[in-house]
Amino acid sequence: MGAVEIKPGIYWVGAVDWSIRDFHGYITPNGTSYNNYLILDKHVTLVDTVKHDFSHYTIDNIRALTDPAKIENIIINHIENDHATSIEHIMALARAAVIHITERGKKGLDRFFDTSKWKFRIVKTGDTLNTGTKTITFLETPMLHWPDSMMSYVKEDKLLISQDAFGQHLASSARFDDEYCDQCSTVELEHAVRDYYANILMPFGPLIKAKLAEVQKLGLEIDMIAPDHGIIWRRDPGKILKMYLDMANGKADLRVVIIYDTMWQSTEYMTTPILEGIRAAGVDVEVIKLRATPTSIAIKRFWESRAMLVGTPTLNNIMFPSVAEFLSHLRGLRPKDRIVGAFGSYGWGGGAVKEAYGELKKMGLEAVEPGVEVLYRPSAEDEKKCFEFGKQFAEKVIEYHKKF
Ligand code: FEO
Repeated sequence: MGAVEIKPGIYWVGAVDWSIRDFHGYITPNGTSYNNYLILDKHVTLVDTVKHDFSHYTIDNIRALTDPAKIENIIINHIENDHATSIEHIMALARAAVIHITERGKKGLDRFFDTSKWKFRIVKTGDTLNTGTKTITFLETPMLHWPDSMMSYVKEDKLLISQDAFGQHLASSARFDDEYCDQCSTVELEHAVRDYYANILMPFGPLIKAKLAEVQKLGLEIDMIAPDHGIIWRRDPGKILKMYLDMANGKADLRVVIIYDTMWQSTEYMTTPILEGIRAAGVDVEVIKLRATPTSIAIKRFWESRAMLVGTPTLNNIMFPSVAEFLSHLRGLRPKDRIVGAFGSYGWGGGAVKEAYGELKKMGLEAVEPGVEVLYRPSAEDEKKCFEFGKQFAEKVIEYHKKF
């Protein structure tokens, strides 16, 4: 993809990764893009780079517009490898450039590269860079989602270059939301936003709320948001800001997701009467088997639903390994504002359901106890217990959902 002018004198010069399907364990069925931006002004300025194996794409895009040796400033909003690992190749061409970066960004970059010959300017919130006709203001966003993270705001163009925030893992020939929605659909785009938020930004809801409030307090006028992945928001940037605020405030659908695994189908057999009990209470429900589903998809469906039931057989007195792995992954994402429960089958001693509740409580989620456990295959009597468990759980979900 060639360079695209997104604002007068400001160009997307990134790369589209059509084929990536595993982004450090996060499944990306639609690929992604690594967005960076070139400001052609009196002082030529590059904002971010791209993943190292895409260096030639961004360098070709820059060359089509100017000689890379003319780059005077490089802003590094975020040092994660998908955005900063082309810096060596860029610095080899733009030897005199000054890198504008946060203090923690510089410390991180020093660990990845020999930076001894590079020139740096350490920046913090409120510092500015004048490129000639444009003023760029820096806004630190530590832990959104790395300690080094910041955003860059171009006042004259009302443009927020937001690094990972507001991004989506989407490979597309469209650069803007309005182009993408002509090609595909708004619903698909919204799904991509939620997928990204659930798998990457879920732990940072309180920080997101605080940062959005700070942006409001600073009175920044924003008519375009350009993230480092996916499409650029120009039709209605307020929409993506509202989606983020809603997600940070715990917005979810009134739905139960049953996430389970099974050894000899006994736990699986329990899902049907539980599902029927949930439906009988009038609540939407879906079922996800862990070994048949990438973890990042299970995480997204968890995040979109108000409630989760975890199903696990007991194996060697503890949870089934895939369920233990899923709950450990979920705990790291520090979920909030969800109501949960557990069920499962056992052969002799049991113990997995108790352990699952232990994990869920460590996350601080609202746990509905007791769960339901059955010996070997569920009997007709057990199926009634499962149905009642599902129904009563769903009734509690309805009450809990009213808080939001
Ligand atoms: Fe897209 Fe945090 O890197």
